[in-house]
Amino acid sequence: MTTASPAGRLPSLVPAMIATRDLARIFAPTKSSAGVTALAGIDLDVAPGEIFGVIGRSGAGKSTLIRCINGLEKPTRGSVTVDGVEITGLDEVGLRAERRKIGMIFQHFNLVSSRTAFDNVALPLEFAGLDRRTIKARVEPLIDLVGLADKRDRYPVELSGGQKQRVGIARALATEPKVLLSDEATSALDPETTLSILALLKQVNRDLGLTILLITHEMEVVKQICDRVGVIDGGRIIEEGAAYDVITRPRTETARSFLGALAGRTLPPLLAARVRQTREDTRHAILRLTFTGETAEEPTIARLSRRFGTDVAILQAQVDEIGGRPFGSITIAIGNEHLDDGAVDAFLTQAGVSVERIGHVA
Ligand SMILES: Nc1ncnc2c1ncn2[C@@H]1O[C@H](COP(=O)(O)OP(=O)(O)OP(=O)(O)O)[C@@H](O)[C@H]1O
Ligand SMILES: [Mg+2]
Repeated sequence: MTTASPAGRLPSLVPAMIATRDLARIFAPTKSSAGVTALAGIDLDVAPGEIFGVIGRSGAGKSTLIRCINGLEKPTRGSVTVDGVEITGLDEVGLRAERRKIGMIFQHFNLVSSRTAFDNVALPLEFAGLDRRTIKARVEPLIDLVGLADKRDRYPVELSGGQKQRVGIARALATEPKVLLSDEATSALDPETTLSILALLKQVNRDLGLTILLITHEMEVVKQICDRVGVIDGGRIIEEGAAYDVITRPRTETARSFLGALAGRTLPPLLAARVRQTREDTRHAILRLTFTGETAEEPTIARLSRRFGTDVAILQAQVDEIGGRPFGSITIAIGNEHLDDGAVDAFLTQAGVSVERIGHVA
């Protein structure tokens, strides 16, 4: 497979904590279903200590990717390496040992309902055959770390969703893993609880130097904690780079439409219904402008209006932040009768604004 290094890829000097090469998983056809290529050849490098987010539509292959990385799923082709050990080459015994280096948290927490918070966290250590004293010494600080000291003897049914996920995180950390994998860990939580769990993940990333690979379809997760992201579609990574760059300047149409919807950058339905893709018999062009960094401060819209002698109507505007860096998104309607599209785009690009042409309205 390709070893090309697209923009945003790690410099090859840093050995990756998680690496996949030409990773493919093809589900064979059965009586009731056609065959599915869930992963079509994935090359991924996650650096030690980074938080990498994989985002993509339902069915894109996200869970299959994560299951191949922790050895729950056998790939059809290709390799997975975690902390220098090739997972794909291991037998059952080797895999069990290697999995202790890989913590995992889930959307529905997967706690054992007959065990207290403490005993859930202790479970992987019991499996590892540690004695009761060592287990206690390991579990207690973890329960404190996730802020559940007063809930240690509660059963899952007595805990809120956020508290259950805290137990899940403590359990994932019990074997002192190098890597934490998260499959939609905040999807079942309300927005406020999501923020508190993301803060906890960021804290363990920073304080324990833990590498985190998470999959999500929530923009909030990407905005709050991801250093880099990969967009997966049809079992392939179609874009990859710093979270800020991928979100504010997606290069492919698929990523643009997916990320736009995720960020709430969709037109109001009444307007969307009127947008045409052809210019004939229309009077306005609809443009979406993305402002990043310094350009967020510039009076570009007013200048655009003066420079081309045309009215500009603002249809939608939002300001947002990724990893603490601001960016703005404005959708405008601009008269298109006597305007040269190329000149408008060039003017905006020169002002440091990226332009996406949405269509035309009468
Ligand atoms: N065990 C399986 N047998 C057959 N097909 C499968 C199996 N597991 C997954 N698939 C198929 O592989 C594709 C990718 O599935 P996967 O669960 O990885 O998607 P996903 O990105 O996690 O989706 P979601 O966001 O809905 O969780 C889907 O088309 C799915 O139907
Ligand atoms: Mg999934």
